Amino acid sequence: MCGIVGYIGNQEAYPILIKGLHRLEYRGYDSAGLALITDGGKKLNVYKTKGKVSDLERFSQSKDISGTIGIAHTRWATHGEPNDANAHPHYSQTENLALIHNGIIENYSVIRAELESKGYVFRSSTDTEVIVYLIEYVQKTNRVDLCTAVQLALHQVVGAYALAVIEKGNSDTIIAARKSSPLVIGIGKNEFFLASDATPIVEYTDEVVYLNDEEIAVINRNEPLKVVNLNNVTVTPEIKKLAMNLSQLEKGGYPHFMLKEIYEQPKTIMDCIRGRINVEGNNVVLSGVIDNKGKFINASRIIIVACGTSWHAGLIGEHLIEEFCRIPVEVEYASEFRYRDPVITDTDIVIAISQSGETADTLAAVELAKSKGAFIYGICNAVGSSIARATDSGSYIHVGPEIGVASTKAFTGQVTVLSMLALTIAREKGTITKEKFESMVKHLQELPEKLKKVLEKTDDIKELSKIFTYAHNFIYLGRGYNYPAALEGALKLKEISYIHAEGYPAAEMKHGPIALIDNEMPVVAIATTDRIYEKTISNIQEIKARKGKVIAIVTEGDTLVCNIADYCIEVPETVEEYAPIVTSVPLQLLAYFIAVNKCRDVDQPRNLAKSVTVE
Ligand code: F6R
Repeated sequence: MCGIVGYIGNQEAYPILIKGLHRLEYRGYDSAGLALITDGGKKLNVYKTKGKVSDLERFSQSKDISGTIGIAHTRWATHGEPNDANAHPHYSQTENLALIHNGIIENYSVIRAELESKGYVFRSSTDTEVIVYLIEYVQKTNRVDLCTAVQLALHQVVGAYALAVIEKGNSDTIIAARKSSPLVIGIGKNEFFLASDATPIVEYTDEVVYLNDEEIAVINRNEPLKVVNLNNVTVTPEIKKLAMNLSQLEKGGYPHFMLKEIYEQPKTIMDCIRGRINVEGNNVVLSGVIDNKGKFINASRIIIVACGTSWHAGLIGEHLIEEFCRIPVEVEYASEFRYRDPVITDTDIVIAISQSGETADTLAAVELAKSKGAFIYGICNAVGSSIARATDSGSYIHVGPEIGVASTKAFTGQVTVLSMLALTIAREKGTITKEKFESMVKHLQELPEKLKKVLEKTDDIKELSKIFTYAHNFIYLGRGYNYPAALEGALKLKEISYIHAEGYPAAEMKHGPIALIDNEMPVVAIATTDRIYEKTISNIQEIKARKGKVIAIVTEGDTLVCNIADYCIEVPETVEEYAPIVTSVPLQLLAYFIAVNKCRDVDQPRNLAKSVTVE
């Protein structure tokens, strides 16, 4: 969480920083700020305020915003409430240095107490402020340059950081450093950019360097990029080409990124399977699996680690892998897994699923499993992200940048990759019949067209949403492959509309939650045709018998459920294994329209951030 941006070059820094902050606002939007060096290096101006980047723009309107070097920050509060004082950048005690930071300094209270005992007075309650004070203290006491001071200071810091610091009197250099929080440096012509991800950089250059843990970049406007580690050993930066394009980062006429991303799904599923299905259309090849065929065939167990929506995708992965590959699968919240000393052996495969590839808990789970000898496979969206780099192998979902905080196209992309992964392993292991395999590949290719058909229902779902805008609670039910889809539907609704919603396996209702049902309780029941369709119908009857209001998601042409339910949304038929890909789309739309009706900030819901880089 938190987004950082920096610029040094011949252009005015302010507009580049502001535009960059807008691109990174999905990472946090509690407060924003920037620092510029101007007047031949004589002035270091810091402007910051509680609120969004647009508030920062208003705040700095009448100020001196000149300067060709600057750093900027958009915050998601961890230590200290969102207010002006806690916003970044933070000045050092003498106001000679300004620093921005994404991450958490775990031993900040010890460092703070030590500096306070030396007479330092802190202005904020953040963990970040201690770093900039410490750097200044080290710089003064050791009489060293800024880069060396940052190196020495970071030796004392425990925690995660992506940071950038600038110094009054030196308008030629930004010092940036990274450990466990992402940092990308863009190399332009006589100019450099830095950011938490490549989105603020892509319109200026496609050459980037992803900084590795414990590396420090010395970004001097007159010199090639220099990278050293904490022990001052020079590292040769590896320049990579960005594969992102600008239109992926814009709303393209949609009112919200979330709606755009929901609508992109026919295309993103296509992008996800492209090149992985042969021209005859009867084979699927996931190269990450093929390259490690022996590991997968001989795996005694697969453990899937993930958080939130990605965890829901993992639950579907469990069904797919167990059904087709006959390998036992466990699905774990990364945040729990990492702290419970799990039993892991070197015949286990750990699959980490993460859209951002930066989720701190998932990354820590990967590191833990690695240290215990497991083979780690990543399913990520963000290319070059920390998790993608920490894994032994993996598959990208290729759905393009997801900007709306509520995950939509990443979820369907993750499930699509998990399907291809299960099919590839099953074929190599011989645990699937040729007929079933080919039928699954055929149905996979039909998904983009089916999703287009689901999107034709948008107006109906919009109308339906009006009936439920003022509901206080929702229950989502599903069974089998559709149970994780129910959890995901409930998560979508709660995170963007702030309506309380719970997902349950439909048959579990009678073990307690059915007590909640009355004529005011909307129940979204996913009841597409599958091997337990009849059982799901009985569960819906149980809800109706208690006067619950049932919104059913059914297979096209279904009359049985539609006759029982109060409202029906039909989706095209597919095999039950792919049902959650199809059924999750109307649930995304329902949540979206309810949130819009309630005038919620759909793309940036309160208290949330897209990339959860703190635990
Ligand atoms: C919900 C949502 C979150 C993320 C979770 C994990 O819409 O987006 O629940 O799924 O924070 O994020 P990643 O997938 O980036 O690891």
